[in-house]
Amino acid sequence: MALITGGVKRIGAAIARQLHAQGINLVLHYHHSETAAHALQAELHNQRPNSVLLFQADLRQIPKLTSMVRQIMEHYKRLDIVVNNASAFYPTPLGKVDEKDWEDLLDTNLKAPFFLSQAVAPHLSENHGCIINLVDIHADRPMKSHPVYNITKAGLVMLTKTLARELGPKKVRVNAIAPGAILWPDKDMDEVSKQRIVSNIALKCHGDPKDIAKAVLFLVRDGGYITGQVITVDGGRTLNQ
Ligand SMILES: NC(=O)c1ccc[n+]([C@@H]2O[C@H](COP(=O)([O-])OP(=O)(O)OC[C@H]3O[C@@H](n4cnc5c(N)ncnc54)[C@H](OP(=O)(O)O)[C@@H]3O)[C@@H](O)[C@H]2O)c1
Repeated sequence: MALITGGVKRIGAAIARQLHAQGINLVLHYHHSETAAHALQAELHNQRPNSVLLFQADLRQIPKLTSMVRQIMEHYKRLDIVVNNASAFYPTPLGKVDEKDWEDLLDTNLKAPFFLSQAVAPHLSENHGCIINLVDIHADRPMKSHPVYNITKAGLVMLTKTLARELGPKKVRVNAIAPGAILWPDKDMDEVSKQRIVSNIALKCHGDPKDIAKAVLFLVRDGGYITGQVITVDGGRTLNQ
């Protein structure tokens, strides 16, 4: 039984399809994407009825997280995998950052994964489960004009390592995946910028959400002795910077 935050679109949906295809039942969390959530649930129920539960929440509201975990346990009675995938992403040029941006990005990308991990840890421990955090190659190589986003992902890397240490004795593994250029943002990116990024990637192409989903599956299924690690999936982009 796996919980994926932001799990109904883009990379989250690819992770959902990959785990579901392995026979794993899902709780797919979403925030605004209700139509996409019901469409993905219907698609997966066509393959295996009653295998996907949907949960709507703004992850910045911590009591909603604990309520989500309580409802999952009431429904499924177990939890094995948590993927902290949901994320906010937009530029915050220095000099123009206000507290609202700071709180939005920090709360979504760092505070929510921390409190969700804290809430699920005792349940994961019962099944020797795992947590996987979606970080970013920009966690340690700052993306220009995105200081607050960069800081959130750097924090999420430390969250991964520190919780791996805390939860190791409880047989819960905590790892991260750092994608490079997989899917372009929905808006705000011109063709020239995309070409510039691709020319800096060793494999000379952007990745596919399935590349991230396969890395998640590796950590879930084959990574039994891996914890506290960040797996970079970037086509060699970080070799060039
Ligand atoms: N795309 C890439 O190439 C790339 C590169 C590096 C790292 N990553 C990381 O990989 C992960 C997936 O990337 P992505 O591009 O697929 O993500 P995304 O589309 O930017 O965001 C995923 C989901 O996060 C949810 N979300 C945002 N704010 C939320 C909030 N306050 N409460 C609850 N949910 C919220 C949204 O749900 P709703 O749609 O339901 O509102 C959204 O669909 C992210 O952690 C991202 O940082 C991606």
